Amino acid sequence: MHLSALLLCLSLGALVKCATGSDWCYTDCDDTPSTWENLHGASCGGKRQSPIDIDTNNVHADLHLLNFNFVNFSSKHVIKSIINNGHTVKLKLHDGEVEVSGGGLNDAYSTIQLHFHWGDTEHHPGSEHKIDGQRYLMEMHIVSMMKGLTMQQATEKSEGIAAMAFFIKATEDGDVSPTWSNLTSYLTNVMDTEIDMEHDISIDDLIKDVDLTKFYRYMGSLTTPNCNEAVVWTVFHEPIIIHKTLIQKFPEKAGFRNVYRPTQALNGRQVLASPATPLPSHPWCYHDHCEYTQSEWSRLPNAYCAGESQSPINIAKSSAVKEEKLGAFHFEKFDDKHVIEKIINTGHTVKCVLKEGVEVSGGGLGHVFSTLQLHFHWGAHDSEGSEHTVDSKRYPMEMHIVNKRKDLTLEKALQTTDGLAVLGFFIEATSAKEKSRSSSEQGASSSDMDALKKLTSYLSAIKNIISEVNVTEEISIDDLLGSVNRESYYRYNGSLTTPSCNQAVVWTVFKESIKVDETLMMMFPKETGYHNVFRSAQGLHGRTVYTTAAAARAPVSISLLLACLCAFHFRLHF
Ligand SMILES: *[C@@H]1O[C@H](CO)[C@@H](O)[C@H](O)[C@H]1NC(C)=O
Ligand SMILES: *[C@@H]1O[C@H](CO)[C@@H](O)[C@H](O)[C@H]1NC(C)=O
Ligand SMILES: *[C@@H]1O[C@H](CO)[C@@H](O)[C@H](O)[C@H]1NC(C)=O
Ligand SMILES: *[C@@H]1O[C@H](CO)[C@@H](O)[C@H](O)[C@H]1NC(C)=O
Ligand SMILES: [Zn+2]
Ligand SMILES: [Zn+2]
Repeated sequence: MHLSALLLCLSLGALVKCATGSDWCYTDCDDTPSTWENLHGASCGGKRQSPIDIDTNNVHADLHLLNFNFVNFSSKHVIKSIINNGHTVKLKLHDGEVEVSGGGLNDAYSTIQLHFHWGDTEHHPGSEHKIDGQRYLMEMHIVSMMKGLTMQQATEKSEGIAAMAFFIKATEDGDVSPTWSNLTSYLTNVMDTEIDMEHDISIDDLIKDVDLTKFYRYMGSLTTPNCNEAVVWTVFHEPIIIHKTLIQKFPEKAGFRNVYRPTQALNGRQVLASPATPLPSHPWCYHDHCEYTQSEWSRLPNAYCAGESQSPINIAKSSAVKEEKLGAFHFEKFDDKHVIEKIINTGHTVKCVLKEGVEVSGGGLGHVFSTLQLHFHWGAHDSEGSEHTVDSKRYPMEMHIVNKRKDLTLEKALQTTDGLAVLGFFIEATSAKEKSRSSSEQGASSSDMDALKKLTSYLSAIKNIISEVNVTEEISIDDLLGSVNRESYYRYNGSLTTPSCNQAVVWTVFKESIKVDETLMMMFPKETGYHNVFRSAQGLHGRTVYTTAAAARAPVSISLLLACLCAFHFRLHF
């Protein structure tokens, strides 16, 4: 086929005559969608056809699908004309003024036209793509061609064309959108006649407030003959919402209806989603009988557990790099004795939800963080259960204080490398020596114990999974932390240690452990009925673990002396 003929087909939508010599249509002709595959020279029977039904349970989140760059989407001067070509209504753009890149696309694309797919009435929706089997009322397509290619070249290249799909949903509330109202005023049943558009509408006006960071991505085809398998598809998660009366104008004024192709087989293709797209969560567990036990987390759809910045890790003391910037933290309301709102048995952990206003800053974090909750990881009566290990030593328990950057929503924080800051504290049993010393001196370690004693007294009230109880006892976070030196810690970039394992966490793991009575630790597995709720160590993949430069509040000489004495002691006895 000649290039000029093809250009005519694609730009005027008269594809039909030139492509195959026979007419195609959606209904009421010889070549309806079910027979398009027989059209001469067309790819409609291929293996990567569009549209598809997007099954959100089988979509995988992809960290590379970051934000788009749109050029001139906000310009009111780029839409040139509107034309009814008998299959759709198309808005043609001025050449070379509108561009799309980013969004995980490998190239920059030149946007050439927009068009629509619709059904009949509200009882017969007409979007092309479906989400979990559901069709929306309408769909808008924005079609762009790889920059520098002719249309012929673009249709022959696997990613030659970038199509963006927006679902359109009806509302009966509120005012009729002026933009869409304006657009529908141009609709006509006069075919193949280009009508100039006044310079009133931008593409952004049509997209309205759809969140452009939430989208699905897959490799597909044009949805009309010749169905060229040359399209990288972006299907936005949020629909454009317009008034019901405007949606009805498309079939009414254009003179035809149900202009959409049925969904096509996936044939093993993977649909991806941008990190911001909300996807259904799946049941997971550590090691019991569930679909996704720990070793299977990496297969969880919509999760990042197979990433290269996962937590927890084993911290090798000798490889930790000293960093002077890791200074003291500032804690807001850690001394508030009414800070714990309630305690919850989530089925994976015991979690204390904190009230608002608790904050962490300093400590080389670079941002102010709001403290959301704290929770625990534990082992069994005869085994340790901390998540992090130090020189392969696992501690009996670990407490995590979870903080979110104050300037971000939780949703945004989960997608940002330093969106969350988790403070990890090891918990271990008070030795007999420390016990006797603290009872005689009334030292700090006895107050560590009081706080945890109060907290564990609630465990019997939340034996059932998903049960919760209000905390009325006076317990501050400072009480729980006791005398632990908070200026001596390790720092690395990692992830949540439970699905979806978002790689959004700046980790602080404190070197000193909280000392509590062993019987209190035993209450966690005993009262909840589950044990070994910790994730195993993840690969470092080249990450650096940093450490605070100097530690100890005690003068260096004394701590050194202590260390020597201990080592000496150690050697004598073993
Ligand atoms: C944006 O559109 C205007 C006309 O509306 C055009 O003059 C300008 O060159 C376009 N900008 C780019 C970067 O293409
Ligand atoms: C709607 O379109 C007409 C031309 O058809 C134009 O004169 C008018 O200003 C537009 N109104 C709005 C609100 O865009
Ligand atoms: C827990 O506290 C909330 C308010 O903080 C209150 O509405 C709720 O009734 C309390 N629940 C119980 C069981 O006391
Ligand atoms: C964490 O990652 C950021 C880049 O995203 C980097 O600037 C920072 O130095 C890293 N911090 C650590 C502790 O590795
Ligand atoms: Zn289309
Ligand atoms: Zn945790």
